[in-house]
Amino acid sequence: MNATGTPATTAIGIDIGGTGIKGAIVDLATGELLSDRLKLPTPKGGKPGDIIDTTRQLLETLSAGVGSLPIGVCFPAVVKNGHTMSAANVSRDWIGLAAEELFEKGLGQPIHFVNDADAAGYAEAQFGAARDVPGVVLLTTLGTGIGSALLNDGVLVPNTELGHIEIDGHDYETKAAYSAKEREHLSWSDWTKRLQKYYSTLEKLFSPDLFVVGGGVSKRYDDFIPLLKLNTPIIPAVHRNNAGILGAAALAVRFPDPS
Ligand code: BGC
Repeated sequence: MNATGTPATTAIGIDIGGTGIKGAIVDLATGELLSDRLKLPTPKGGKPGDIIDTTRQLLETLSAGVGSLPIGVCFPAVVKNGHTMSAANVSRDWIGLAAEELFEKGLGQPIHFVNDADAAGYAEAQFGAARDVPGVVLLTTLGTGIGSALLNDGVLVPNTELGHIEIDGHDYETKAAYSAKEREHLSWSDWTKRLQKYYSTLEKLFSPDLFVVGGGVSKRYDDFIPLLKLNTPIIPAVHRNNAGILGAAALAVRFPDPS
């Protein structure tokens, strides 16, 4: 809410990732960015204090001249009651931490705190590829890890963590994330073989009505999506690298922090 008691239509979204921390001011009516997207590198080691300091720097630059706005922060971990319950591509110090409270202390204002893929899925359902799509939509983000967001008729089931499904004895994000393609110098076709296995498994388990593929690599969708043989339609996300920012901002207004 803003000072007049009407729901805010502008908010700040911040997306914390294994390699970068990004943020922007978002128009929640349209899902457009009202500022440049700022990005700072994630501090080496991904430790809580360092990440919070970098987030504060980013926020200071973003909010200069615009005053205080609702803030949503999304993070690559299971988020339960404001606590980070896992840590796949950041320091293990996050596990079990009251992260939302720490961010609020560090940033000096209330925030809404959510898993990064859940934020991206919510953004695609509100403003993008999954808008008005009925039934079960499964969004996966292919980046440093694999994130997942499961929606049924636009309602999010949080913290599904389907990047960590075990296939052939592997935590499969280590094989099929975009970082695995880069690390192992895989061709598009070799990487797609792994994606085929991954999406066929998800298809078997969830019978979705639609797959949405997010993450920066989804701009190269033509190089891999047409090679996949699935019964479920599979399409690229609309907001790619901005989806986390948009979803975090939108959720901050939908669920304002009571503190
Ligand atoms: C984490 C998820 C996150 C995903 C994308 C995974 O390694 O476990 O929480 O959503 O990476 O960042």
